[in-house]
Amino acid sequence: MLRQWRGPFSIVNIASAIFECSAPDLDTCPDESLPEFAFIGRSNVGKSSLLNMLSGRPDLARVSPTPGFTKLINFFIMNGCWRLVDLPGYGFAEGARKDSAKFNQAVSHYLKQRTNLCSVFALIESGLPPQDIDIEFIGWLTRNAVPFVLVFTKTDKINAATVSANMAAFMEQIAPWFVQPPATFMCSSETGHGRAELLGVIDEAMTAIQAEAKAAAPAAGDAPAPAGKHAKSGKRRPDLARPW
Ligand code: GTP
Ligand code: MG
Repeated sequence: MLRQWRGPFSIVNIASAIFECSAPDLDTCPDESLPEFAFIGRSNVGKSSLLNMLSGRPDLARVSPTPGFTKLINFFIMNGCWRLVDLPGYGFAEGARKDSAKFNQAVSHYLKQRTNLCSVFALIESGLPPQDIDIEFIGWLTRNAVPFVLVFTKTDKINAATVSANMAAFMEQIAPWFVQPPATFMCSSETGHGRAELLGVIDEAMTAIQAEAKAAAPAAGDAPAPAGKHAKSGKRRPDLARPW
């Protein structure tokens, strides 16, 4: 199928997109020196495909019609200065894993403890009415104060009216948890729908980080910052003293 999204980048110009490593748990994740944006959602919802669509590299993350395909935490460095992170999905269990936690412990640790995690793209399949497992997972993200936006995927598979109805029904179910509901987006990795808007989320976060770093940088002639100021603090998010 024609991948229309391989055109010029309007918001974040991704000149380089490089696979960095796969980690089975939080301890083996790379250092926290770069801002990260992670994809999470039910198995098969389209996380790896969306990462490829945003990066403009169709073969960067591995995609498969088999649910539960991504099993490790996969890190990709964009432009040498921020990362996209492809996480294993939830809601898929096989064999001995059937009775285990609803989603992998490594993912839970990553989402709760990674101090350089800027935002999570929480993916929901747009063609389905609200699924309990997704509602529960969004509740978990909310209770754990994980910053996220909602992304309704695979809009090419369904008509716009159904997408809107499913999105509205989902938002209605989670509305009581929020004063300000989370931002919502639609996307299709087949057509590139939503690419500019999602890159805009990253662009906005990166601009804020750069402004924060500039404000925190000592002016010429100031005394040097105390040793260890930007060292890993070991604190849990929310943590204003980001490590970059
Ligand atoms: P796991 O790694 O198993 O958790 O899945 P995932 O969420 O990473 O999904 P993946 O990107 O591997 O896609 C799963 C299937 O959905 C593949 O067959 C993709 O080609 C298909 N798919 C993903 N995104 C889209 C989309 O926007 N439109 C359509 N029509 N198919 C899609
Ligand atoms: Mg995947």
